[in-house]
Amino acid sequence: MHVVTLVLLSVLLFHAFQYTHGYNILGICPSASYSHQQPFQALMKALAARGHRVTVASTIPLKNPPLNYENVDLSFSYRKKDCTGLRGNKTFDAIIIEQLWFQCYYALVKHYNFPVLMGFLSVGNLPYVMDSVGNPDDPNLNPDMAYPFTDKMAIVERIQNILYTTWTRLYYRYWHLPRAQRIANEWTPGVSVYDIDKNFSLVILGNNHVFGYPKPLLPHVIEVHSLQISEKFEPLPEEIREFLDNARDGAIYFSLGSNLQTHQLPAGPLTALCNALGSLKQRVLLKHDGYMAIHPTNVKFVKWAPQQAVLGKTA
Ligand SMILES: *[C@@H]1O[C@H](CO)[C@@H](O)[C@H](O)[C@H]1NC(C)=O
Ligand SMILES: *[C@@H]1O[C@H](CO)[C@@H](O)[C@H](O)[C@H]1NC(C)=O
Repeated sequence: MHVVTLVLLSVLLFHAFQYTHGYNILGICPSASYSHQQPFQALMKALAARGHRVTVASTIPLKNPPLNYENVDLSFSYRKKDCTGLRGNKTFDAIIIEQLWFQCYYALVKHYNFPVLMGFLSVGNLPYVMDSVGNPDDPNLNPDMAYPFTDKMAIVERIQNILYTTWTRLYYRYWHLPRAQRIANEWTPGVSVYDIDKNFSLVILGNNHVFGYPKPLLPHVIEVHSLQISEKFEPLPEEIREFLDNARDGAIYFSLGSNLQTHQLPAGPLTALCNALGSLKQRVLLKHDGYMAIHPTNVKFVKWAPQQAVLGKTA
């Protein structure tokens, strides 16, 4: 009997402990881009699953959010740029912000009285993100992601890399930040975007060194990758499954992602692309939403495909 009581008590205590241990975390991800939202939301969902209460400002609010995940809809910023006025009455222990071009949101960091600030970047490392935590980022050694250079740059490449990264740093410091400061001033006077920009406690990079070259990272810059890939994905629609199952010479999946769509390509390149794919012996699943003058027999046009299920399909 005693043992049972003890076990019950510890279970209850453990439960209560877990519950009170959650933090209030505000996530801000203003990119009007699905591919930026997915890893960010995966991070916030994982935090919610660990018992934290998360509030997530996103241009694509999460459908069916878990209990302790609250959406703040930023989808209006697809159409207009004024995305201020999000101030609420909550208190937060931490803010995780997408560390791209959204420094005007630092107004919220001040509004919420400077919680611990963390950055999340789903596109690898950018010079000004490295600068925000004082991480060394030597343009002699680290090729910028804008260039296809390796870590063994020739002198000309090195000069190009130095010029470009210097330019982005100057642009950020003397053009972008002053504009962010002006916007922030309107809503939260007394905020310094310059100070907050240098006050990150942690930077989470959606990156993996296997996709690039070794570079020094400080202990508070961590690389995580492919957060959006889930362990169980939705089943393939019957039609696509059949098409891939019957691909005797293998299959190719072709998609330009979410920001650029194939129907936005000029007719010439689009036809050339279609002809090239049509000349292959493999079957091609092509994400295309719109008119197409030609229709090679080995190509199947789909408006949308469950990408993870397609790529995860085994023969
Ligand atoms: C914040 O609190 C004030 C006063 O308690 C209230 O009037 C206001 O509506 C609240 N704002 C929000 C966004 O909840
Ligand atoms: C920097 O962050 C700490 C908490 O991590 C906070 O106490 C401090 O006020 C912040 N300072 C600025 C200038 O943002």
